[in-house]
Parts: sequence; C-alpha cells; structure tokens
Amino acid sequence: MRLALGLDLGTSGLKAVALDEQGRKVAEARAAYPLHTPRPGWTEQDPQDWARAAQEALRALCGRLEGAEVVGLGLSGQMHGAVFLDKAGDPLAPAPLWNDQRTAQEVAQIEAAIPRQELIRRTGNPAVTGFQLPKLLWLRNQHPEVFRQVYKVLLPKDYLAYLLTGAWVSEYSDASGVGALNLATRRWDSEILQSLGLSEGLFPEVGPSERVVGALSPAWAQATGLPAGLPVVAGAGDNAAAALGLGVSRHRGGVGSVSLGTSGVIFLPLEEPTPEPEGRVHLFAHADGGYHLLGVTLSAAGSLEWLRGLFPEVSLDALLQEAEQVPLGSAGLYFLPFLAGERSPYLNPYLRGAFVGLSLAHRRGHLVRSVLEGVALSLGEVYRVMRPLAEARRLLATGGGAASDLWLSLLGGALGVPVVRVAGDEGAARGAALLALVGAGVYPSLKEALEATAPAEQPSPLPATGLEGLRQGYQEAVEKALELYQG
Ligand code: XUL
Repeated sequence: MRLALGLDLGTSGLKAVALDEQGRKVAEARAAYPLHTPRPGWTEQDPQDWARAAQEALRALCGRLEGAEVVGLGLSGQMHGAVFLDKAGDPLAPAPLWNDQRTAQEVAQIEAAIPRQELIRRTGNPAVTGFQLPKLLWLRNQHPEVFRQVYKVLLPKDYLAYLLTGAWVSEYSDASGVGALNLATRRWDSEILQSLGLSEGLFPEVGPSERVVGALSPAWAQATGLPAGLPVVAGAGDNAAAALGLGVSRHRGGVGSVSLGTSGVIFLPLEEPTPEPEGRVHLFAHADGGYHLLGVTLSAAGSLEWLRGLFPEVSLDALLQEAEQVPLGSAGLYFLPFLAGERSPYLNPYLRGAFVGLSLAHRRGHLVRSVLEGVALSLGEVYRVMRPLAEARRLLATGGGAASDLWLSLLGGALGVPVVRVAGDEGAARGAALLALVGAGVYPSLKEALEATAPAEQPSPLPATGLEGLRQGYQEAVEKALELYQG
C-alpha cells in the first residue's frame, strides 16, 4: 500500500496523518506543546517544542504503518508566525504567533511607509498586527542586537521543512500571509521591502505548494523511523490546506467552506487576486495555483467554549438542548462575539464582546442561544463583504461547532447559502498529505488528486433558519460597540 503523510503544526499541538492513494485515513498521531503568553496580547511558542513534537508524532505515526510504502510527506501549519533564525539555523527568540497583538506600532510604521491602498493592491491586505512582516520590524525596533543576527525569518511549517531537509523555502499560500508577497508576481515585493529598509534575502525562496523541497535527512529518518531521502513537499498554510482536504479549490467553482472552530472562518476560492477594496477580509494565494478570500470571526466556537466554562457543572449537550427550547431571537437578547477583538470585517483588536438587551426574563438557555445566533450573524456580516467578489453556491462546514444541527441551521440562514457537512475531519493535515500525493507523483496534478479524494457531503437534517429579522438589531449593537472601542 502506498501512503502519503501530512503534518499540521497547529496552535495547541501537532497532528500527523497517513492517507492512502484514495485519500482515506490510515493512521494518525498527535503531540502537544505549550502556548506562552508572557504579556497581555502576546502569544509565543518555542520552535524547539515544535521540532520535538514533530519527531514524537512522526515516530508514533511511523510505528502504525508497518509494511506500507510511504511516498511523501507534506507540511501545513498555523500561518503568520515568525521564526527568527541565525545562520546555523538556530532560533534566536521565541516565535510570536498569528494571534499575537504586540505590533500595533509596527503596523502604523508599515502604513506610514506604504499607503494602505497600495499595500492592499500589491499584497491583497492592509498591514495586520498578526502578520509576519510587522513582527520582523518589532524585533528590529525592540531588539536590534538580535535582529542583526537574523539570517532568515521563516513561517512555522517552513521551519519544519528546514529541519527535515535543510532547505530555506516557502510556498505561495503561507508566504502570502507574511504581508510582503506581491500577489500578481508571486514574488517578495522588493519595493515594499526597500521602503521598510529590509533585505529580501531575509526571506526564503517561494514556490508552488506541491513542490518537493528536499529529502528527509538521515538524522530525522533515524529519529522517526521514516526512510531517509523521503520527498518532503512544501505544503500550505493551514486554511489553504484544510480547504484542499475538503476539495475546495478553483477547479470546483462556487464551493467554499465555513469552519466553526475556535475562530469561524469563511474560505472562498478565487481565480484572480482581486482584493476587497478596503481590505476588510484577507486575500491570500491558494495552494491550487489560484487565490482565495478568507474572512475570520475570531471567537466562534471559542465564544461558546467561554460561556460553557461559566457553567462547569453542565454538559455542552445539555446547554445546546436548553438553547433549542428558546425561540428565535433569544427574546430580544443579542450577543456580540468580539471576546478577543475582531478581524473581519472590522480589523479592530480593541473591540470587545457584549450581551445586549438582557432582562429578568432571560435564562441560561437564552444566553446560549444568543451566542449561537450572534456568531452566525457575525459570519453573515463577513460573508456580505466577501460575496461581491466570490459568490458561493454551497459551503462545506467543518470544525467542532458544525456538529450542532441548530448552529448549522442558524449559519445557513445568516449566510443565505446552503451549508453542508462533510465526512471525516482531518483538517489541514489531510490537505498537506494530498499535496504530498501530488508531489510524489501518485497523481499527475492537484486537480486530479482533489477529484479522486473529495470527501462525501452530508446535508444537514434541519432547514436554514432565516435571521433577517435579527440583523438590524445586531447591526445597531455592533455600531455602538465600534463607537465604544476605537483603540
Ligand atoms: C489565518 C489565521 C489563522 C491561523 C491559525 O489568517 O491567522 O487561521 O492560520 O492557525
């Protein structure tokens, strides 16, 4: 049996899967690592923890694959992080992550050097606190002596590619989340880098996602049990890789995805790099040679998780049942899911959440229901911004929250697009393994690999619930919050 491996370097842990040629999961393994928050708004991880976890998970996975022929290993992972490396390839500092908010000053510095509209035109996005480019400026501003030793800055999964093969490389999907990749030319934008006084040589060479970037080193082969020389494939940022895992690409017009994980993410493929004119949703390169829009509600299932944490004695199922008993509209209660600030469409890290309209009549079930409704309404606002650029005929739902029929029905109503579940939920690791199948030559093209492996769709048992009647009240509450939290 020929197998490909896919690795997803997540925020709470790393997941490795093995897929057969038809894209069926044969085995998986996981390993965890800590997230550090040394100051409010800062999030960091130790790149050496990722390396240890990658060895642990690959060793465990390899132990479950006796007799199989492994043909390739693809990478995916959390986007935007910055791994600062010296010439010997050793990390010089902890890696600030995608959700780190320390770079407000550097974002202003970037937009002072390159006007926002120009930045959007070239890179698809305005300057965003979580992106990698402002992190590099932060290091130069705050720790010039460390910055002087930086030989390369790599994205998290590209650091793993370096460890596994010795190659300093990236690929378009993840590189487009740095904030300095010109989307039309697919090269580092030398004018942007020059106006910030940064050398292009700090960044890795960039190529396609299915490219074989190197061979597994003897040291890693020994540490994991995998064969030395195994082709390692560049892979993709986690959102693009997860989309591939669902079969979402420009080759399958009108199909996007919506994820109800900690954050809620709408992913819509695009043929051309057409940015949202105000940069209110992200535009990145997809791993299929095209592009995609990405809209993010930062606290989606994260909001429900927060509420559940307030009632530790009650199960999530019981809370969801209470919500089902509450009529649509939660008796006038609105929830704004801005518990950790918001990305799309407001791009405001200072925004904060709220329950608006609380009265003595409200019970716990109302709170739960209004969280489900508020998250759905929030994603509805995100989709309104995306729709003029990329209309979806159908959205494939993933993430823990998609298991709730009620939530899926509210989401379908808020988006006005059919939302269907798909079988299996291997996430980004699956997309990384599919890219490895292509890189290893099992399929002649990504298009053919996706056609052969697209997971089965499972229509939701509940029809969509129209939320039109709630939109105005929700929007008014959002306007008030935007006035209150301007930063
Ligand atoms: C995308 C983003 C997140 C990370 C987390 O812009 O920041 O989805 O990739 O894994």
